[in-house]
Amino acid sequence: MSNMFDQWNLYSRILANNYMRHRDLSVVLREFLAGLARSCRVVDLGCGDGWMARECLKSTQVRRYVGIDTSADVIARVRACPPTGSDPDNARIDLYCEDVFTALPALPAGEFDLVLSSYCLHHFSQPRKRDVLRQIRRLLTPEGGASSGPTWQGTANRRAICA
Ligand SMILES: C[S@@+](CC[C@H](N)C(=O)[O-])C[C@H]1O[C@@H](n2cnc3c(N)ncnc32)[C@H](O)[C@@H]1O
Repeated sequence: MSNMFDQWNLYSRILANNYMRHRDLSVVLREFLAGLARSCRVVDLGCGDGWMARECLKSTQVRRYVGIDTSADVIARVRACPPTGSDPDNARIDLYCEDVFTALPALPAGEFDLVLSSYCLHHFSQPRKRDVLRQIRRLLTPEGGASSGPTWQGTANRRAICA
């Protein structure tokens, strides 16, 4: 593997072939978003190249998408092809090349319908995972939901995972 660009091309093929179950999870998340019946606001922690968000949000009106990743390469990729959903003209896209631990506290409380952290939390120590979960709880609306890796927690279970 010669550089980061090649690695992300390989990773994109892994996702496209559903080897890490991204496609399965995106089906569940699309159902959740359809049930919200409003344009949605999404935070994507460790957003990578944005494949997961594009797939989840493709049939949803996106009011705001916040993508956060420490890699400038992947932020450039999301910028080139952002997850604007079904109404691209009205989607606000904010991309931060930053550590989630500095980016999350700056976001407003209770204003997001979905927090994605697909295959990101495993990078963190246990205490840092707890910090991130507290931040996820702070960001979500009462009806909001969170997903991490191949798992999903919506509405009723939200308080349980974030407690
Ligand atoms: C395995 S990739 C997952 C990408 C994408 N969410 C997905 O499901 O395909 C993990 C991503 O998390 C990012 N990452 C790791 N630690 C981070 C941190 N502390 N803050 C922001 N991003 C981080 C990496 O740069 C990488 O893009």
